[in-house]
Amino acid sequence: MCGIIAYAGSEPVTPILVSGLRTLEYRGYDSAGIGVQNGDGKSAVTRALGVDDLAEAVSGQDWNGGAEPTVGIAHTRWATHGGVTIPNAHPHTSAEGRVAVVHNGIVENYIALRTELSDAGYLFSSETDTEVIAHLIARRVESGESLAAAVRCAARRIQGASSFVATSAAEPGVIVGVRLGNAGGIVVGIGDGFNLLASDVLAILPHTDLVVYLRSGEMASITASGAEYSDLSGMVLERSPARISRNFEAAARGEYPHFMAKEIAEQPEAVSSAMRRRVDFENGVVDLPELPYTDDEIRLIDRVILSGMGTSLHSCMYGAQMIEAVTGIPAQAENASELRYRSTSLNERTLVISVTQSGETADTLAAMDLATQSGAKQIALVEAEGTQATLVADGTLYLGAGQEIGVASTKTMMCSLTVLYQLAVYLGIHRGTLSAKRAIKLVSDLSRLPGLIAEMIDDDDHCEQLAHDRLGDKRHLLYLGRGALHPVAMEGALKMKELAYIHAEGYPAGEMKHGPIALISDDMPTVALAPQGALYDKMVGNINEVKARGGEVIALATYGDTTMPGLTDEVLWVPEAPEWIVPMITLIPMQQLAYHTSVALGHNPDKPRNLAKSVTVE
Ligand code: M6R
Repeated sequence: MCGIIAYAGSEPVTPILVSGLRTLEYRGYDSAGIGVQNGDGKSAVTRALGVDDLAEAVSGQDWNGGAEPTVGIAHTRWATHGGVTIPNAHPHTSAEGRVAVVHNGIVENYIALRTELSDAGYLFSSETDTEVIAHLIARRVESGESLAAAVRCAARRIQGASSFVATSAAEPGVIVGVRLGNAGGIVVGIGDGFNLLASDVLAILPHTDLVVYLRSGEMASITASGAEYSDLSGMVLERSPARISRNFEAAARGEYPHFMAKEIAEQPEAVSSAMRRRVDFENGVVDLPELPYTDDEIRLIDRVILSGMGTSLHSCMYGAQMIEAVTGIPAQAENASELRYRSTSLNERTLVISVTQSGETADTLAAMDLATQSGAKQIALVEAEGTQATLVADGTLYLGAGQEIGVASTKTMMCSLTVLYQLAVYLGIHRGTLSAKRAIKLVSDLSRLPGLIAEMIDDDDHCEQLAHDRLGDKRHLLYLGRGALHPVAMEGALKMKELAYIHAEGYPAGEMKHGPIALISDDMPTVALAPQGALYDKMVGNINEVKARGGEVIALATYGDTTMPGLTDEVLWVPEAPEWIVPMITLIPMQQLAYHTSVALGHNPDKPRNLAKSVTVE
C-alpha cells in the first residue's frame, strides 16, 4: 500500500526521505518519488519505478543554489488510478510546480473534479486521481490563502477516504498533512529541531519516539520548530505527543534469509507475548482488562460476528467456532467487504469482533463503522498501535506479535488465534457457561502452545524437501480440512497463492465431492489436514476418495498414526495436542510449505507481487 514520509528540519532532507521510503517498502509499492523545496519557488520532484533507482537519481542532483534542501515529502505508490509509470508516481504538482502533494487512498469524485479543473484551465500530466488535489490546493493558494487553509478546502471537496501531505512554494518550510477516513494513517513525529509526517510509525522511529496519530478529519501543519493541529472547520486542536516503545532493531532480519522465515521462527515468543498479563496459568483464569463490559452486559450478548479480510478472516473462522463452542452464543465469521454492504440485524446485543493486524484495512474499518451505527458492542484485535480500528472499538486486544515486516501474515495470525482463544475462555467464564474445571483445562492447554509451536518449527526440513520435490513444479493444489482445521486449510491455500503464485483452493473436506473432486488428477496434489480428533475418520474417507482418483496426497497427521503412511504419499507429522491448539500448530507447516515453495521457485516471499501489507483502499 502507498507510504508517505515528510521531513522539515535542518539536516539534508533527501537521505532522510530515501531511508524513510526504504522502511515503507514492506507495505508493497510499485513506484516512488521525492519532492524537495530547493529555494527556486518550485518543488524539485524526482520519480522512479523503485526506491533504488530513486536513491541513485537524487544522489546525483545539483540542487538550486548548491545548498542541500532540508524540507521535503516522499511517497511509495501502489497503483490504483493509472498504470505503473513514472508520470503517475507521486509527488504530483500544480502546473508551475509550486504545490506538491503525496497521497494515500482514492478520490472517488476525481472525474468530476478533473473536469471542473480542466474547464478552469488547469493542465493534467498524469492519469491519477491524486493530481486533482494538487490543483485544488494550488487554486486556493493562488488566491492568497495559506497552505493549511487551501488543504482544508481541498479536503472538504474530495470524497472517499484519503490521507495526503502537501507543500507550497509560497510557504517554504511548512508541510501540511490531513487524514480523511480510513485510507491509512498520518503520524506526526516530534523531534528536537525537526518534525516529520508519515503514514507509518516505522518510518518515524529512527528519528524520534514522540508521536501524535491524526484522527479522521484532523490536520497537522509542521515546520522544523513546531506542529499545529486543527480540524476541517479550522478549529485549533490541542494534541499531546505520546512516547511509543517499539524496538526498531527487532525489525532487522538477523540471521534469517527472509523476514518471513524470521517471523515464522518468532511465533513461540509472539504467542507468549500475546498471553502476557492476560493468562493466569496458576489459577486457570483469563483476564482481559482492555474490555469494558460488565458480566451482565456479557450475559446479554445473543450473537457474535467476527469480521476481517484475508488471513484475518481465517482467524475469525477459527474464533467463531471456538467462541460458539465455549460460550453457546451463536457466532459467525464474516468477510468484512461483504458485511459492510449487507443488510444486517446487528444491535446492542451483538458483539462484533474485528481482526486486523494493520488496524487500517479499509473494508474491516467500514464494517466497524456499520457496527457502530447499529449500536453493537465492538472489540478489535489489532497489532499496530494507535491505528483507526483501535480508535473505533470499545476495547482493543493488542496481538503483541511485534512488527511483522513480511507482507504475508504469519505470526500476527498465530497471535490472533491465541487472543481469540483467550477471548472465548474469558467470555465463557464471565457468561457462566464455562465451568471452573473446564476453564482450568483450557488455560492449561494454552500453556503448552509456545512449546508445541517450537517443536513444529524445528521440524522444518521435511517441508523444505516437499517444496523442492513435490510442489514446486505443480500449478494447482487442493487443501482440505474439517471443523477448526477448515480455516487452516484456507490459510494454507492463501499462503501458497500469495507466495509461490500457485493456484490453490482451500475447502471444507466434506464439500470436495460436490465439485472440486472433478479436478483431482496426478497434476493436482491434495494437502489433507488429518490429525487425530473427532473428524479424523471423515478425513480418512476423503483421502481415500482422492487416492481412488489417482490424486497425490500430502497428509498432516499425529505422530503415531499408523494408517496415514500406507494411505498417502507423504506425511507431515504434528505432535498430539489439545483440540483447540491443534489448528494453531497445524498452521506452521502451512506457512513453511508456502515459504519454501516460494524460495524454491526463486520468488521473494517477503514482497509478493501485487500485494500490500496494509490494504487501505476498498
Ligand atoms: O491488516 P489486516 O489483518 O486487516 O489485513 C487483512 C488482509 O489484507 C491480510 O491478512 C492479507 O490477506 C495478507 N496478505 C495475508 O498474508
